[in-house]
Amino acid sequence: MKISVVGLGYVGSVAAAALASAGHDVLGIDIDADKIRSFRAGRSPIYEPGLAELIEDGLAAGNLRFMTCEEVAESLGSVVIIATGTPPMGNGTADLSQVKESILWVLGKQPEGCTIVVKSTVPPGTGERIIQGMQPNGAPFTYVSNPEFLREGFAVHDWLHPDRIVIGGPAESLGTMKAVYVGIDAPYVVTDLTSAEMIKYTANAFLATKISFINEIAMLCDRLGATIDDVCEGISLDPRIGSSFLRAGVGYGGSCFPKDVRALDQVALTNDHNFELLRSVINVNNRQRHLPMYALRDLFGQLSGVKVSILGLAFKPEPDDVREAPSLDVARMLVEEGAHVRVFDPRAIHSARKVLPQTISFCSDLMDCVAGAQALVLMTEWNEIVRADWKQISGIMEHPRFVFDGRNALNTKEMQKLGFDYLGVGRASLRTAGSQSSHAVFPPSSQRQ
Ligand code: UGA
Repeated sequence: MKISVVGLGYVGSVAAAALASAGHDVLGIDIDADKIRSFRAGRSPIYEPGLAELIEDGLAAGNLRFMTCEEVAESLGSVVIIATGTPPMGNGTADLSQVKESILWVLGKQPEGCTIVVKSTVPPGTGERIIQGMQPNGAPFTYVSNPEFLREGFAVHDWLHPDRIVIGGPAESLGTMKAVYVGIDAPYVVTDLTSAEMIKYTANAFLATKISFINEIAMLCDRLGATIDDVCEGISLDPRIGSSFLRAGVGYGGSCFPKDVRALDQVALTNDHNFELLRSVINVNNRQRHLPMYALRDLFGQLSGVKVSILGLAFKPEPDDVREAPSLDVARMLVEEGAHVRVFDPRAIHSARKVLPQTISFCSDLMDCVAGAQALVLMTEWNEIVRADWKQISGIMEHPRFVFDGRNALNTKEMQKLGFDYLGVGRASLRTAGSQSSHAVFPPSSQRQ
């Protein structure tokens, strides 16, 4: 089957390469000529494990080609996947202009019609509105919503082994979509357009809610002398609760959760519903990235001149992506308060350097970053950081060797044995048990909300 993919971000590029590996004849299309050059040379402009190999295979087999929009002079095929971005506008509403322009462009190129499969995350109701808006043009197309659930860093794996494939649209499109996903074994959820769009937002909003919920419980643990790790173990053995997305810490970031949760909040508001729970999820998440600052101010008072190193900048381990990463806010606040800031990330230094103040020292070596630091703030649980030689780190840091573990990734007792003044999130009880420190248990009462 000939399939075109419009928009080669991490969803579109993975879709194009994986569909080619399934034997389809795939044309990847983007407006960015540099990106297209890179794909043609067999290089993936985004970091995604396994993607470069799939692209190379597709190029070598000849069934994966890349073009800019201007270069396309052939039929796009019977199925066109739209994977262009839906960035947030000022009030959090998703900007749909790229999606709408892509669809118009496709219909202009393809007067004979096709099945348009929208993978871009669009607010519930968008598909129906687009169909109504374009009907007067008489374009003979079928609109299918087919949201994606790929995780950055695991996108190729998730494409090949999805939990489910959601198809929203006319019942006749199911056969076409099964042909697109040939060779992939997953349950199909077949529904109407708006419900399919709703499934995507509900999934992300629910996962974000789990994270903010456990972060609220962690705050309570700190106040009551309970330990979040044990609380999580105790609840997660209940199969109705499970253990995923219950890691307390500095909160969620990335290009999806923050954007999609805010967009759903806006969808609710414009549809006369005040989604209070979602508003709290957002507020809790915004607060979490302030926790390292509360702890540092509590310990040092003024942060001017204090040597603080941030370990991990990416919004999660694996990608080089710092979009909406909590680390960026922490770095900016520290600079604002006059701290001497050094940062390290195994992969995201390059992307962070583009958006952070240049007074920061960007380190490509972990030990170089921590040498002489009085405090460390762990913001991303990279293996390279968690499994580092913490004995050596203890030896090259300066007093008071404070470590704020924003991902609860290190072992409290081991850190204390190594002489660190260690603090996690929702683990304050372990701290008072082992720490020599005389300053207040986190978070300080003056900053409690
Ligand atoms: C998320 C969803 O997991 C995907 O299913 C979805 O397709 C994607 O958004 C999207 O909409 O495109 P992703 O943004 O790659 O995927 O990241 P996640 O692995 O879900 O993590 C998101 C954030 O939550 C990270 O900052 C992570 O550190 C944080 N997190 C995750 C926690 O703070 N605690 C947890 O227990 C889990």
